Amino acid sequence: MMKLTAETSLLLALAAASTVALLAPVVALGNEPAKVARGKYLVTTSGCNDCHTPWKMGANGPEPDYSRMLSGHPEKMELPPAPKLVGPWVMAAAATNTAWSGPWGVSYTANLTPDAETGLGKWTLRNFVDTIRTGRHMGRGRPILPPMPIPMYKNFSDEDLEAIYTYLRTIPAVSNKVPEPLPPASQ
Ligand code: HEC
Repeated sequence: MMKLTAETSLLLALAAASTVALLAPVVALGNEPAKVARGKYLVTTSGCNDCHTPWKMGANGPEPDYSRMLSGHPEKMELPPAPKLVGPWVMAAAATNTAWSGPWGVSYTANLTPDAETGLGKWTLRNFVDTIRTGRHMGRGRPILPPMPIPMYKNFSDEDLEAIYTYLRTIPAVSNKVPEPLPPASQ
């Protein structure tokens, strides 16, 4: 009887241990939804949709068109030359809020969706973090132009940047090839 009890408790201990071992990956996976939720919270409170989602006219005025969420400046939208500005006016924006002209030339918001060819589909977490921290495309390419708020966003913590990146990988991929920026001389 004693022996049985000892065996039984050993079995119970083993069962408990293997339950913990089995649960460990579940707990690690369980972090993913929390990261995605945190990333969604940061993206929807930090203005990303303001500039990276094209605006359309809604019942109450212009609003982001979430059917093209975070897909950047629409590739098919032809723009006339940027307007000439006077005095302290230095910046003009297109109605979609995805194209700007200013002293830096003309810039167009990037496609942040996971589309492999035209969005961030091939970006690693490292590419994303390096871009935001250094203000250069993938940390080593050309400087990221205004009005992308790099000076503010580079202050995001590593955890927050990872959450934003993780969330961006879960949104619908949209194929949209954003044009290259134009230099000031061509305005
Ligand atoms: C005020 C407008 C604005 C806001 C707000 C904004 N962006 Fe941008 N973003 C831009 C513009 C414009 C570009 C393209 C600049 C260029 O071509 O150099 C850009 C570029 C980027 C790039 C670089 C893409 C590449 O290929 O190098 C990333 C990544 C990015 N934005 C992510 C974000 C995220 C994430 C948020 C929200 C936390 C955000 N942006 C909010 C305007 C904005």
